[in-house]
Amino acid sequence: MLVEEEWLKLENEILNCRKCRLHESRRRAVPGEGNKNSIVVFIGEAPGEKEDELGRPFVGAAGKFLTELIELIGFKRQDFYITNIVKCRPPGNRDPLDDEIQTCLPYLIRQLELLKPRIIVALGRHAGRVLFSLTGLKWVSMTAHHGKVFSAKLMGFDVKIVPTYHPASALYNPSLRKNIEEDFKNVIKKTIEEEQKPKSERKQARTLLDFTRKT
Ligand code: URA
Repeated sequence: MLVEEEWLKLENEILNCRKCRLHESRRRAVPGEGNKNSIVVFIGEAPGEKEDELGRPFVGAAGKFLTELIELIGFKRQDFYITNIVKCRPPGNRDPLDDEIQTCLPYLIRQLELLKPRIIVALGRHAGRVLFSLTGLKWVSMTAHHGKVFSAKLMGFDVKIVPTYHPASALYNPSLRKNIEEDFKNVIKKTIEEEQKPKSERKQARTLLDFTRKT
């Protein structure tokens, strides 16, 4: 099957999904949107009210802030693919439950197989926790991990995971806002720019040997 056909099939399955209770209260499922050839994917938690109304990810207040953060580092929202761990809105914007996350996860895994991203920006602790467990990393907390780059293997390919705060939690909290802006400026921007270089020009990850070698 062509990649475009696989995307269509997958998006249709998501739009018509009835595998968990969230389908009962949702208006629209939200598969994701953006540049499917991007090396970068942003993954949030679950659609909110506006996303549920429009069927698009990150289009409410948190989405406006995410768009601003992406522009702050010199890119456009359309440059990247944007999706969520859970594709339907939990009622009242409650946290997604574990069984809802597990039921929805195969959709994200298929999206990642098609996208083969080199960088995943995990927005918020739910996305961080799920992506760490998918790649065999141990999640501690957002305070411990935000703004750091974690090299991992995902379905056989190398990927860099950068956890940062969820734009909704940082929106009205000045100290988290400062943290998320700094993560974008100091870490996410540089990681994207580095990964955009041809492989021969990228910095090699240092191994233990490099530290023991005499120069
Ligand atoms: N919050 C999310 O995690 N995702 C959205 O799409 C919107 C708000």
